[in-house]
Amino acid sequence: MLRVLVMVSGGGTNLQAILDAVSTQKITNTEIVGVISNNKNAYALERAKAFKIPTSCISPKDFDSREAFYENLLEAVDTYNPDLIVLAGFLVVIPKAMIQKYRNCIINIHPSLIPAFSGKGFYGLKVHEEALNRGVKVVGATVHFVDEGTDTGSILLQKAVEVHPNDTPETLQKRVMKNAEWEILPEAIDLIANGKVKIEKGHTIITE
Ligand code: GAR
Repeated sequence: MLRVLVMVSGGGTNLQAILDAVSTQKITNTEIVGVISNNKNAYALERAKAFKIPTSCISPKDFDSREAFYENLLEAVDTYNPDLIVLAGFLVVIPKAMIQKYRNCIINIHPSLIPAFSGKGFYGLKVHEEALNRGVKVVGATVHFVDEGTDTGSILLQKAVEVHPNDTPETLQKRVMKNAEWEILPEAIDLIANGKVKIEKGHTIITE
C-alpha cells in the first residue's frame, strides 16, 4: 500500500476527490495516512476528520522565523513516513530540504495547462483571471512532480477544459476543478500506487 500524505491550505475539494476515490476504489493500493494544513481554519481539515484521517496544522504564524516553520513542517511530514506527498491546494513554498529528501515523491495539482499561466504568482483564482484576460479558449489542469522551481517539475497528467463566452474567473475555476482537477489528481495517485509511472531524463512515462 502506498502511504500518501496530503497537504492543504483551504477548502480541500481536491482532498475530497482523493478521499472519495479511495473509498470507491478508483484509487487502489493506497492509504491516506495524514493531512497537513498550514492554516488551522482550512475546511479541508474537517473533510479529513470526517474520514478519520489524522491531521496536523503547522502554521507559519506560530514560529518566529521561516526556518523554524520549515523545520517543524518537515518534522511533521516525516512523522507520517509517506511514500508520496500530494500538494492539493497547498499554497506554501515547499522547503528545499523537503524537495531533496522526497525527490520524485511529491506531486502538485496546478489549475492550468503548464507552462501556460504557471510560475511565481499564479495560483488559485488568479490563474483563471489571467486566462480570461488573455482571451484563451482552452484552459485546464496539470499534475506534476515537484522540483526546486515553481511549477517546473515533470508533468504527469494534463486535462483540457473549454472556456465559455460568459465565463467569470469563478465559473471557469469551478469547471476546471470539476472536469479536470478532481479527475486527474486521483488518477495520478492511482497510477503511482500501481507502479505505472517512471521518470526518465526529466520526463514522466506512463506504462500499462
Ligand atoms: C485548486 O484549484 C488547486 O489547483 C489550486 O488551489 C486550489 C485548491 O482548492 N492550487 C494552486 O493554485 C497551486 N499553484 P481545494 O482546496 O478546493 O482543493
